[in-house]
Amino acid sequence: MLEEIVFDAETIRQRVGELGQEIGDYYSRGELVLVGLLKGSFIFMADLVRCIPRPHKLDFVAAASYGSSKESSGRVRLLYDPETDVAGKHVLLVEDIVDSGTTLNRLVQIFRERKPESLEICTLLHKRVARAFVLEPRFVGFDAPVKFLVGYGLDCAEEFRHLPYIASLKE
Ligand code: PRP
Repeated sequence: MLEEIVFDAETIRQRVGELGQEIGDYYSRGELVLVGLLKGSFIFMADLVRCIPRPHKLDFVAAASYGSSKESSGRVRLLYDPETDVAGKHVLLVEDIVDSGTTLNRLVQIFRERKPESLEICTLLHKRVARAFVLEPRFVGFDAPVKFLVGYGLDCAEEFRHLPYIASLKE
């Protein structure tokens, strides 16, 4: 059951627009590739790429660490990896939410081995609870409450991804 709306659709729309501008300003030259982490980032990616005012490419990877449970298992399984050629390119990993940091830490290791020109992270939501980051997210949409959040791509056992806002679940 939903508890309350934490970020409404208009607040998200405005902030995603700002993030797109920030990203466009940051990457003044070179080839840019956004890599979205499925499935959670799919709506954020779709909105974000339309707000980045410079040419770029995009791809997705899938790395699951939660399964259907509400607790992180601490393990990261790569389910889909198209191995886009990112050597010599600016790579921006796009996440919906950073919780323990386990998923991103693993993804950063994997992408560093592919020798990009640069590697940065953009996350819509950051719970600020992760103890150690291999790479701190450079672009953050919102600091998020330490609650179970759903909507705008985020799920609980595959439900709620379609909601146009982000809401907390009753514990
Ligand atoms: C969720 C979320 C992040 C990750 C964050 O993904 O989308 O990718 O967990 O948690 P962490 O910082 O503790 O690693 P999930 O594994 O639930 O898959 P999904 O994107 O398909 O929902």
